[in-house]
Amino acid sequence: MTEAHNPSDTKQRRRSIWIPRMFHTLRARLIVSVALVHVVLMGLFTWEAVERQSQELHQELINQGHSLASLMVVASTNSLLSEDLASLDEVTRRVSDQADVVYGEIVDVRGYVLASTRAGRVGQAVGSAIEHNDNFPLAAGDRVFDLREDVRIGDSRVGFVALGLGTENLERALAATKAKGIQYIIIALIIGSIAAWLLSLAVTRNLNELTLAAGRIGGGDLNVRVGVTSYDETSTLAKAFNLMAASLQRSSREIQLEHRKRTEAERLACVGEMAASIAHEIRNPLAALINAVKLLGHTKLEADDRDAVTDIVNTESQRLQRILNDFLTFARLPAPSMLKGDLIETIEQTIELIRHDPLYDERITINRLYDDRSHCLFDPDQIRQVMLNLMLNAVQSITDKGQLILRVTRYGQRLNISIVDNGCGIPEEAVSEVSKPFFTTRKGGTGLGLSVVQRILAQHGTALSITTREGSGTEVSFELRVAN
Ligand SMILES: Nc1ncnc2c1ncn2[C@@H]1O[C@H](COP(=O)(O)OP(=O)(O)OP(=O)(O)O)[C@@H](O)[C@H]1O
Ligand SMILES: [Mg+2]
Repeated sequence: MTEAHNPSDTKQRRRSIWIPRMFHTLRARLIVSVALVHVVLMGLFTWEAVERQSQELHQELINQGHSLASLMVVASTNSLLSEDLASLDEVTRRVSDQADVVYGEIVDVRGYVLASTRAGRVGQAVGSAIEHNDNFPLAAGDRVFDLREDVRIGDSRVGFVALGLGTENLERALAATKAKGIQYIIIALIIGSIAAWLLSLAVTRNLNELTLAAGRIGGGDLNVRVGVTSYDETSTLAKAFNLMAASLQRSSREIQLEHRKRTEAERLACVGEMAASIAHEIRNPLAALINAVKLLGHTKLEADDRDAVTDIVNTESQRLQRILNDFLTFARLPAPSMLKGDLIETIEQTIELIRHDPLYDERITINRLYDDRSHCLFDPDQIRQVMLNLMLNAVQSITDKGQLILRVTRYGQRLNISIVDNGCGIPEEAVSEVSKPFFTTRKGGTGLGLSVVQRILAQHGTALSITTREGSGTEVSFELRVAN
């Protein structure tokens, strides 16, 4: 059975390795890595040098000790036999003049010290167990390397010489080598860090440029390109980035061109559709007017009939005028002048306008559910027109008592505006029709209200959404961009 790989698991695991914040940058990581490599390599090199020097110096001391002891043996053999203490004393003194020699002693076969450079030792019985150590390492705290060599004539032993060599010079030389090694490590650390820093500068400078350029592309500036100054991998990345930006720019131009063509085609189609709708809309009032004018020209017309016909002329000509006015608002809608402003103010101004509408009276209550953060980007005049058309539709849908809810809610960077009524609602089959020009179910309505709303909202980069149930009510809503 195979287990599905979940990328969030890997992310979780990666996160669990705690890395200090300052090492999150590529520059810091590069500097630390190069410095670490320098320190480790120089550390190994120094350790190796100290080890080798230590072995050489120890061997040198051992050799020096053995040759001095041999010299002492040769120089003291006869004097030992004759127990010539003055000569033996001379031998030990001469030996102790040599570099590193701490003491020299000559002991006879019975174990008595005959000559010594150490005070109070002459005449003492030390036996044959005189302390000696001719091997390294020495015991802790021991700074003297002891040697002993027998004095023999033929096969018989006549005594022995003992010699002590100080290790201070040797230790000083090793300490000096260690100090030099540490100096080299520090120099390597500094040079390595500077080299890594310079390298990281070269790498991150190009990366920073790429990051800035990517940000500008994200902001919509497709003209941006990055300068390719190096011949490394970042330059390959920069070239790929420039190719991508150029391709994006080409696609964007093509899309714009396509969009312009389509908009133009849609505009022409819309003009044709509108012309047909207008012709249809004005045909009935125009026919009524023509008939009325004919009747008015009739001399035998009763006074009452004349008044009725005059009423028809008035009503139909007003209807014609309203159709033309609404159509002109719809057709000549200017581009919006987007401003940062408080949407609630615009909504409140619209409520004031509604209060003066003859249809609005005390039978309708208005509930306001406003978010405090209601500043957004919009054309106040056009959005007032939208709110007016939507609120009028809501008021007109309420036949008896009813209520209107005006809700403004912020979702991240969007502001949602909705108008809810508990009026007659829209039949399901009519929902897709209501936004089309001249669709109306209201006596005296032109059917252009929602068309104007849709056009204004489209110019604000948004659209109207309608949720309705026949007999229960309707909710219409749209969104606007929050002003930062
Ligand atoms: N809130 C609503 N409740 C019920 N029906 C609605 C609502 N809003 C719109 N409608 C329906 O949609 C139709 C079209 O509305 P629209 O605002 O475009 O035109 P109108 O209101 O008929 O006329 P006018 O051009 O004077 O606004 C209305 O006639 C009505 O049938
Ligand atoms: Mg309307």
